[in-house]
Amino acid sequence: MTHKSTTEQTISVQQAIESRHSIRQFIQQPIHQQDIENIFKLVRLSPSAWNLQPWRFHVVTDVDLKKKLEEAAYGQKQVTSAPAVIVVTSDMEDVLANIADTVHPGLSGERKEEEVANLSAFFNGMSVEERGQWGLTQTNIAFGILMTAVQGYGYASNPMLGFDQEKVRELLNLPKHVLFAGILPIGKPNGEGYPHHRFDIEKIVKFH
Ligand SMILES: Cc1cc2nc3c(=O)[nH]c(=O)nc-3n(C[C@H](O)[C@H](O)[C@H](O)COP(=O)(O)O)c2cc1C
Repeated sequence: MTHKSTTEQTISVQQAIESRHSIRQFIQQPIHQQDIENIFKLVRLSPSAWNLQPWRFHVVTDVDLKKKLEEAAYGQKQVTSAPAVIVVTSDMEDVLANIADTVHPGLSGERKEEEVANLSAFFNGMSVEERGQWGLTQTNIAFGILMTAVQGYGYASNPMLGFDQEKVRELLNLPKHVLFAGILPIGKPNGEGYPHHRFDIEKIVKFH
Protein backbone atom coordinates (compact mmCIF):
# COMPACT_ATOMS: atom_id res chain seq x y z
CA MET A 1 0.00 0.00 0.00
CA THR A 2 1.21 3.52 -0.76
CA HIS A 3 0.51 6.60 1.30
CA LYS A 4 -1.13 9.04 -1.10
CA SER A 5 -4.89 9.31 -1.51
CA THR A 6 -6.27 8.66 -5.00
CA THR A 7 -9.61 10.20 -4.33
CA GLU A 8 -9.98 13.84 -5.26
CA GLN A 9 -13.63 13.58 -6.14
CA THR A 10 -16.38 12.56 -3.79
CA ILE A 11 -19.73 11.14 -4.87
CA SER A 12 -23.09 11.40 -3.12
CA VAL A 13 -24.45 8.62 -0.91
CA GLN A 14 -27.15 8.12 -3.55
CA GLN A 15 -24.52 7.65 -6.28
CA ALA A 16 -22.49 5.30 -4.09
CA ILE A 17 -25.51 3.08 -3.43
CA GLU A 18 -26.71 3.14 -7.05
CA SER A 19 -23.33 2.44 -8.60
CA ARG A 20 -22.41 -0.45 -6.27
CA HIS A 21 -22.49 -3.86 -7.92
CA SER A 22 -20.61 -6.95 -6.79
CA ILE A 23 -17.28 -6.88 -8.63
CA ARG A 24 -15.24 -10.06 -8.79
CA GLN A 25 -12.27 -8.92 -10.88
CA PHE A 26 -9.99 -6.10 -9.88
CA ILE A 27 -7.19 -4.03 -11.41
CA GLN A 28 -3.85 -5.15 -10.00
CA GLN A 29 -2.91 -2.02 -8.12
CA PRO A 30 -2.62 -1.54 -4.38
CA ILE A 31 -5.17 0.38 -2.34
CA HIS A 32 -3.87 3.68 -1.04
CA GLN A 33 -3.39 3.60 2.69
CA GLN A 34 -5.00 7.04 3.06
CA ASP A 35 -8.14 5.75 1.33
CA ILE A 36 -8.31 2.76 3.70
CA GLU A 37 -8.01 5.13 6.64
CA ASN A 38 -10.67 7.46 5.24
CA ILE A 39 -13.02 4.52 4.65
CA PHE A 40 -12.66 3.35 8.26
CA LYS A 41 -13.15 6.90 9.54
CA LEU A 42 -16.64 6.65 8.04
CA VAL A 43 -17.29 3.05 9.07
CA ARG A 44 -16.49 3.78 12.72
CA LEU A 45 -19.44 6.20 12.73
CA SER A 46 -21.87 3.31 12.20
CA PRO A 47 -24.64 3.17 14.79
CA SER A 48 -25.12 0.25 17.18
CA ALA A 49 -27.49 -0.47 20.04
CA TRP A 50 -26.11 1.08 23.24
CA ASN A 51 -23.22 2.22 21.05
CA LEU A 52 -21.42 -1.08 21.72
CA GLN A 53 -19.52 -1.09 18.37
CA PRO A 54 -18.74 -4.84 18.33
CA TRP A 55 -17.26 -4.76 14.80
CA ARG A 56 -13.59 -5.57 14.31
CA PHE A 57 -11.92 -5.53 10.88
CA HIS A 58 -8.90 -7.36 9.49
CA VAL A 59 -7.43 -5.85 6.33
CA VAL A 60 -5.54 -8.56 4.45
CA THR A 61 -3.08 -7.54 1.71
CA ASP A 62 -0.46 -10.27 2.19
CA VAL A 63 -0.38 -12.36 -0.99
CA ASP A 64 0.12 -15.71 0.75
CA LEU A 65 -2.64 -15.03 3.25
CA LYS A 66 -4.99 -14.00 0.44
CA LYS A 67 -4.23 -17.31 -1.31
CA LYS A 68 -5.15 -19.19 1.83
CA LEU A 69 -8.31 -17.11 2.24
CA GLU A 70 -9.23 -17.97 -1.35
CA GLU A 71 -8.83 -21.67 -0.61
CA ALA A 72 -11.05 -21.21 2.46
CA ALA A 73 -13.57 -19.46 0.17
CA TYR A 74 -13.86 -22.59 -1.98
CA GLY A 75 -11.52 -21.16 -4.63
CA GLN A 76 -13.55 -18.00 -5.35
CA LYS A 77 -11.07 -16.05 -7.46
CA GLN A 78 -12.12 -12.55 -6.43
CA VAL A 79 -10.24 -13.09 -3.15
CA THR A 80 -6.79 -13.11 -4.76
CA SER A 81 -7.82 -10.74 -7.57
CA ALA A 82 -8.50 -8.02 -4.97
CA PRO A 83 -5.55 -5.99 -3.67
CA ALA A 84 -7.14 -6.05 -0.22
CA VAL A 85 -9.65 -8.27 1.52
CA ILE A 86 -11.46 -6.96 4.57
CA VAL A 87 -12.61 -9.63 7.01
CA VAL A 88 -15.54 -8.25 8.99
CA THR A 89 -15.85 -9.80 12.44
CA SER A 90 -17.88 -9.24 15.58
CA ASP A 91 -16.38 -9.56 19.06
CA MET A 92 -18.95 -9.14 21.82
CA GLU A 93 -16.64 -10.67 24.44
CA ASP A 94 -14.11 -7.91 23.81
CA VAL A 95 -16.94 -5.38 24.11
CA LEU A 96 -18.01 -6.82 27.46
CA ALA A 97 -14.46 -7.05 28.80
CA ASN A 98 -14.10 -3.30 28.16
CA ILE A 99 -17.70 -2.24 28.60
CA ALA A 100 -16.85 1.08 30.32
CA ASP A 101 -15.19 2.22 27.04
CA THR A 102 -18.59 2.25 25.33
CA VAL A 103 -20.20 4.63 27.81
CA HIS A 104 -20.40 8.24 26.64
CA PRO A 105 -17.64 10.34 28.26
CA GLY A 106 -20.16 13.15 28.82
CA LEU A 107 -22.00 11.15 31.49
CA SER A 108 -21.37 11.77 35.18
CA GLY A 109 -19.34 9.18 37.14
CA GLU A 110 -22.46 7.89 38.84
CA ARG A 111 -24.42 7.54 35.58
CA LYS A 112 -21.44 5.76 34.00
CA GLU A 113 -21.34 3.18 36.78
CA GLU A 114 -25.08 2.68 36.49
CA GLU A 115 -24.80 2.18 32.73
CA VAL A 116 -21.94 -0.32 33.08
CA ALA A 117 -23.92 -2.27 35.72
CA ASN A 118 -27.05 -2.34 33.52
CA LEU A 119 -25.19 -3.47 30.39
CA SER A 120 -23.21 -6.12 32.27
CA ALA A 121 -26.37 -7.51 33.87
CA PHE A 122 -28.19 -7.61 30.53
CA PHE A 123 -25.44 -9.45 28.65
CA ASN A 124 -24.44 -11.72 31.52
CA GLY A 125 -28.00 -13.05 31.33
CA MET A 126 -27.22 -14.39 27.85
CA SER A 127 -24.96 -17.21 26.70
CA VAL A 128 -21.77 -16.35 24.77
CA GLU A 129 -23.49 -17.67 21.62
CA GLU A 130 -26.64 -15.58 22.16
CA ARG A 131 -24.80 -12.35 22.75
CA GLY A 132 -22.47 -13.18 19.87
CA GLN A 133 -25.48 -13.36 17.53
CA TRP A 134 -26.83 -10.13 19.03
CA GLY A 135 -23.49 -8.44 18.30
CA LEU A 136 -23.49 -9.80 14.76
CA THR A 137 -26.74 -7.98 13.98
CA GLN A 138 -24.97 -4.76 14.93
CA THR A 139 -21.84 -5.62 12.94
CA ASN A 140 -23.93 -6.18 9.82
CA ILE A 141 -24.90 -2.49 9.96
CA ALA A 142 -21.21 -1.55 9.77
CA PHE A 143 -20.73 -4.08 6.96
CA GLY A 144 -23.36 -2.24 4.89
CA ILE A 145 -21.81 1.13 5.59
CA LEU A 146 -18.37 -0.29 4.75
CA MET A 147 -19.56 -1.30 1.26
CA THR A 148 -21.02 2.17 0.67
CA ALA A 149 -17.88 3.90 1.96
CA VAL A 150 -15.65 1.71 -0.25
CA GLN A 151 -17.77 2.68 -3.25
CA GLY A 152 -17.69 6.34 -2.21
CA TYR A 153 -13.90 6.34 -2.28
CA GLY A 154 -13.84 5.02 -5.85
CA TYR A 155 -13.34 1.31 -5.15
CA ALA A 156 -15.52 -1.70 -5.82
CA SER A 157 -16.22 -4.73 -3.66
CA ASN A 158 -17.94 -8.09 -3.36
CA PRO A 159 -19.56 -9.06 -0.05
CA MET A 160 -18.99 -12.75 0.63
CA LEU A 161 -20.23 -15.35 3.06
CA GLY A 162 -19.20 -18.30 0.92
CA PHE A 163 -16.21 -19.44 2.95
CA ASP A 164 -15.33 -21.99 5.58
CA GLN A 165 -15.51 -19.94 8.76
CA GLU A 166 -13.40 -22.34 10.81
CA LYS A 167 -10.59 -22.18 8.24
CA VAL A 168 -10.65 -18.36 8.23
CA ARG A 169 -10.74 -18.40 12.04
CA GLU A 170 -7.60 -20.50 12.03
CA LEU A 171 -5.84 -18.33 9.44
CA LEU A 172 -6.43 -15.15 11.45
CA ASN A 173 -6.00 -16.86 14.80
CA LEU A 174 -9.40 -15.72 16.06
CA PRO A 175 -11.00 -17.15 19.20
CA LYS A 176 -14.17 -19.25 18.95
CA HIS A 177 -16.52 -16.51 20.20
CA VAL A 178 -15.57 -14.13 17.34
CA LEU A 179 -18.23 -14.29 14.60
CA PHE A 180 -18.03 -13.38 10.92
CA ALA A 181 -20.30 -10.88 9.15
CA GLY A 182 -18.47 -11.67 5.92
CA ILE A 183 -15.40 -10.91 3.89
CA LEU A 184 -15.08 -8.07 1.41
CA PRO A 185 -12.54 -8.14 -1.41
CA ILE A 186 -11.99 -4.52 -2.51
CA GLY A 187 -10.11 -2.77 -5.30
CA LYS A 188 -10.49 -0.77 -8.50
CA PRO A 189 -13.00 -2.61 -10.69
CA ASN A 190 -11.86 -4.51 -13.76
CA GLY A 191 -15.12 -4.73 -15.70
CA GLU A 192 -18.73 -4.25 -14.71
CA GLY A 193 -21.02 -6.19 -12.41
CA TYR A 194 -24.43 -7.60 -13.25
CA PRO A 195 -27.32 -5.13 -13.67
CA HIS A 196 -29.37 -4.71 -10.50
CA HIS A 197 -32.18 -7.23 -10.12
CA ARG A 198 -34.39 -6.27 -7.17
CA PHE A 199 -37.94 -6.69 -5.88
CA ASP A 200 -40.40 -3.86 -6.49
CA ILE A 201 -40.95 -1.32 -3.73
CA GLU A 202 -44.56 -2.61 -3.42
CA LYS A 203 -43.32 -6.04 -2.38
CA ILE A 204 -40.88 -4.89 0.27
CA VAL A 205 -42.54 -1.76 1.69
CA LYS A 206 -45.95 -1.48 3.33
CA PHE A 207 -47.35 1.91 4.26
CA HIS A 208 -49.56 2.01 7.37
C1 LIG B 1 -23.83 -11.45 2.99
C2 LIG B 1 -23.54 -11.69 1.53
C3 LIG B 1 -22.85 -12.83 1.15
C4 LIG B 1 -22.50 -13.04 -0.19
N1 LIG B 1 -21.70 -14.10 -0.52
C5 LIG B 1 -21.20 -14.17 -1.78
C6 LIG B 1 -20.21 -15.13 -2.11
O1 LIG B 1 -19.76 -15.93 -1.29
N2 LIG B 1 -19.75 -15.16 -3.39
C7 LIG B 1 -20.18 -14.28 -4.34
O2 LIG B 1 -19.71 -14.35 -5.48
N3 LIG B 1 -21.12 -13.34 -4.05
C8 LIG B 1 -21.63 -13.26 -2.80
N4 LIG B 1 -22.56 -12.28 -2.48
C9 LIG B 1 -22.97 -11.30 -3.51
C10 LIG B 1 -24.45 -11.41 -3.89
O3 LIG B 1 -24.63 -12.49 -4.76
C11 LIG B 1 -24.87 -10.06 -4.51
O4 LIG B 1 -24.70 -9.04 -3.57
C12 LIG B 1 -26.32 -10.06 -5.00
O5 LIG B 1 -26.51 -11.01 -6.02
C13 LIG B 1 -26.71 -8.69 -5.54
O6 LIG B 1 -25.85 -8.27 -6.56
P1 LIG B 1 -25.00 -6.93 -6.45
O7 LIG B 1 -24.13 -7.03 -5.22
O8 LIG B 1 -24.18 -6.86 -7.70
O9 LIG B 1 -25.96 -5.78 -6.33
C14 LIG B 1 -22.94 -12.09 -1.16
C15 LIG B 1 -23.68 -10.98 -0.77
C16 LIG B 1 -23.95 -10.76 0.56
C17 LIG B 1 -24.69 -9.49 0.95
